[in-house]
Amino acid sequence: MCLYVSHVCISVMCLYFSHMYICISEMCVGRSTNKENMSAFQEYVCISGMCLYFRNMSAFQEYVCISGICLDFSHMSACISVWMQGEDYGDYEDEPPQNCSIAEKIRGGNVSYSQAGTEGSVLTYHCEAGHYPYPISQRVCSADGEWSSMRLADGRRVSRASCKEIMCPGQLQLDHGEFWPREQWLKPGESQSFSCHSGFSLSGSAQRNCTSLGDWTGTIPVCDSQADDCKNPGVPPGALRSEGRFRKGEKVQYRCQMGLDLLGSAERVCLESREWSGSETRCQTQYAFDSPSAVAEAMGGSLSGVMDVLSPEFIKKNKVTFGRTLRVADGRMNVFILMDTSGSISKTHFNLARGAIADLIRKLDSYEIELNFQVISYASQAKDIVDIVSSKDEHVRSNVKSVLKRLAAFDHRSHGNKTGTNLYAALYRVYERMAILRERNKTRFSETQNVILIETDGYSNTGGSPLAVLAKIRSLLGYTSALDHTEDKLLDVYVFGVGDSVNKNELNLIASRKRHEKHLFILKDYKQLGEVFNSMISDKSVTMCGVAQEDVSENQEVFGPTKKAYTRPWHVNTGVKSETCQGSIVTQNWILTAAHCFSAIRFEGKVDQEKVTVKHGNKAAKVLLVISHPQYKVDGLSHKKVKEFYDYDIALVKVETIKLSWTARPICLPCTKPANRAMKMSPNSTCEQHEKALLPMEETRAYFINKGATVKDAKRKQTHIHTGSKRPDCIKQAENTLLTPHDATLNEYVPDRFLCSGGSADHIDAVTCKGDSGGALFLLNRLRYFQVGVVSWGTKNVCEPQDSSDRPPPDARDFHISVFHLLPWLKQHLGTELEFLPMDD
Ligand SMILES: *[C@@H]1O[C@H](CO)[C@@H](O)[C@H](O)[C@H]1NC(C)=O
Ligand SMILES: *[C@@H]1O[C@H](CO)[C@@H](O)[C@H](O)[C@H]1NC(C)=O
Ligand SMILES: *[C@@H]1O[C@H](CO)[C@@H](O)[C@H](O)[C@H]1NC(C)=O
Ligand SMILES: *[C@@H]1O[C@H](CO)[C@@H](O)[C@H](O)[C@H]1NC(C)=O
Ligand SMILES: *[C@@H]1O[C@H](CO)[C@@H](O)[C@H](O)[C@H]1NC(C)=O
Ligand SMILES: *[C@@H]1O[C@H](CO)[C@@H](O)[C@H](O)[C@H]1NC(C)=O
Ligand SMILES: *[C@@H]1O[C@H](CO)[C@@H](O)[C@H](O)[C@H]1NC(C)=O
Ligand SMILES: *[C@@H]1O[C@H](CO)[C@@H](O)[C@H](O)[C@H]1NC(C)=O
Repeated sequence: MCLYVSHVCISVMCLYFSHMYICISEMCVGRSTNKENMSAFQEYVCISGMCLYFRNMSAFQEYVCISGICLDFSHMSACISVWMQGEDYGDYEDEPPQNCSIAEKIRGGNVSYSQAGTEGSVLTYHCEAGHYPYPISQRVCSADGEWSSMRLADGRRVSRASCKEIMCPGQLQLDHGEFWPREQWLKPGESQSFSCHSGFSLSGSAQRNCTSLGDWTGTIPVCDSQADDCKNPGVPPGALRSEGRFRKGEKVQYRCQMGLDLLGSAERVCLESREWSGSETRCQTQYAFDSPSAVAEAMGGSLSGVMDVLSPEFIKKNKVTFGRTLRVADGRMNVFILMDTSGSISKTHFNLARGAIADLIRKLDSYEIELNFQVISYASQAKDIVDIVSSKDEHVRSNVKSVLKRLAAFDHRSHGNKTGTNLYAALYRVYERMAILRERNKTRFSETQNVILIETDGYSNTGGSPLAVLAKIRSLLGYTSALDHTEDKLLDVYVFGVGDSVNKNELNLIASRKRHEKHLFILKDYKQLGEVFNSMISDKSVTMCGVAQEDVSENQEVFGPTKKAYTRPWHVNTGVKSETCQGSIVTQNWILTAAHCFSAIRFEGKVDQEKVTVKHGNKAAKVLLVISHPQYKVDGLSHKKVKEFYDYDIALVKVETIKLSWTARPICLPCTKPANRAMKMSPNSTCEQHEKALLPMEETRAYFINKGATVKDAKRKQTHIHTGSKRPDCIKQAENTLLTPHDATLNEYVPDRFLCSGGSADHIDAVTCKGDSGGALFLLNRLRYFQVGVVSWGTKNVCEPQDSSDRPPPDARDFHISVFHLLPWLKQHLGTELEFLPMDD
């Protein structure tokens, strides 16, 4: 099979390629447009179905391996070149495209086709529940009217697919324990039970159940007496482990039973630190995939760990310890994204993958580190979508918006007929780029984190061995260990294999192997890739301001009710005993809320803090001090016959230090250094610039938390802040609340310190309810949250008896104390903990 329709098949020995000879017995070559001009020679040579890319021979300094046979280009012997003998290939006509058959069958199931069997059409096999298509689930129609071939694990071709029963690989070995039943394979619904001999205690599950997806509930059972230096590393289902003790320096080796792929480290060493080297071993069946939630969690502990450690805030404090030790002087990262665009990727798949990658890029951008991107699309060749080195892309590579624009503009057909999967070429591109970056500034290079993200459907493989390039990349950074990459501090290689055609063994060798971390993920389809990147917003370990999980409730079936997103980690309940108000965590020690929340316990300007409570999540924080704004006076306009007046309705509650976690984290306050970093604005930005960036429009979308009947029912609701020419009309409705005759002007009653939100012709905005006071009025910017106001009062209470606050009457308005107008006061109290931008106080 050749990739070119207009190909030539020759059964000759040698071919001349610019100063090199390649000698193979049976092959096809792509047609040259001009045989005298070698650089115009089309880039493929296909040998028994495998295609090599040959455009730039000098890039192949090593070997090219095809089905275990390696060609050494540096020692090619000269032979007579067919090419040079001058056969004329110029006369071959392009054949018209052929359609693939749409009468394919699978034993025990159905077949569907994406584009009626035309070129690029995808054939999908469907099986009944509890079954899976074997050997693969999808095939792609090539230009010559053939469905892509199906191969078994040993490389043999098969012509007909069949539906096979899904089974779970059984536990085969349990040291110092017993298990039952002792079967190699178990059916969904069946279970295995484990017990330990006396003197050994069981960790992991005593019983595991085989699920319909072919994996096990629970965790690996281990019987350990803690007699050795390292803990018993256990044996995963489907695996066998070498005999031996677990003393320092000793090794264990794993292998998987027939038909299973070994993921993680095949060999692990008990290190001086009494930990096992490398990553946990797994044996996976072809039809088993990682679940998006498990992947997101693993990524959260790994990638976001890197990101948080790199944040300047972290570097300044450097108290918390995550899995990583600190090396990098500044938060700086090179991100290399390798997108598979080979022939087996349909347009739909490509778009899904592109969407997922865009989500990931946006996600990375929400961290406070300097990012530079290289985005590569690869098929038989690697194409730069964004170049991290070239001067042409100088303003693109560090600007996420421009990166996303480039990505969106990329046409997945731009690889034309060069539809192989040449991961070698893509990684070589990364290597070249990194070598240039290193050459440019060695100091900088040695202080910059490099993350390589590879996305592939692993369908076929053209070109040299990706491992050879990875070794080069590692040596560029001075890394030599092949067994364990935990010490490769500046390099992480993440691999996302999608679909059931991935070469798991190969991908396993490519991904980094770091202790307690996972870098290889095998996902069922491209939709799940998107879910993973979306749910990575979780960032359980991150302590920066304004980071929260996004709601993934649409994916409840996948994530399960227990994985519910925590979308408002800054939010607290506060008030007097009964928690009548809301508030927001602005630092570990301070809660921002409304002053009127404490009016019942305020005597002579002092609040009796004993009676105040603060609850975040289901934890309580001890209240140390309540400071209401000194100018807050509810009777401040009584001389103008206004009964209630809420100017300066703002208070700070000092609490005992809150332990930061994914459910308790500060929101970003504008005009502070952390907010500046979160918005990625220049270090000398001003407060006015923050206001402009956060409230860019006359109607800016914002949110507040609606308390709901119980803490669990609290919800994020959307509204719009009306500024500029839209403000007068918005605040006008406030007059309706002044029921009795009065002498105050509207601007006295609703001064500039209030932000106005609610109803307009363009939007139906939710309004706040009674208990929502004191909560944050907040916005989303670069996936980070910023508090711009404190909820104070509204013109209508439409929440009782029934909750109709989502569709309030058009004249309903809410007023919030603007954070921008009370900065000197905030700085006065928070300034020691939170660095504010310079201001004229
Ligand atoms: C060879 O072909 C390439 C690409 O088609 C072209 O750029 C180059 O000028 C040609 N060189 C010669 C010597 O004809
Ligand atoms: C071929 O590769 C070498 C080394 O990677 C590079 O220096 C050279 O510029 C490349 N040539 C072409 C024509 O791409
Ligand atoms: C291939 O299928 C398309 C769409 O069904 C049809 O228009 C075209 O004529 C077919 N080509 C051949 C060569 O059968
Ligand atoms: C095959 O297709 C029919 C109708 O489209 C459907 O009812 C049936 O469930 C399918 N069988 C399998 C195994 O998917
Ligand atoms: C397996 O199933 C049994 C019975 O249905 C249940 O009691 C047990 O908790 C399950 N084990 C795990 C690890 O889910
Ligand atoms: C790809 O192959 C088709 C024939 O199937 C041919 O018409 C077309 O020109 C080729 N495209 C490229 C970029 O070589
Ligand atoms: C190299 O990078 C370091 C750290 O980023 C920087 O301080 C230095 O000025 C750079 N050197 C050159 C020659 O650009
Ligand atoms: C910030 O400082 C840089 C140089 O340190 C200067 O070029 C830039 O104009 C300043 N920006 C503002 C907004 O003051």
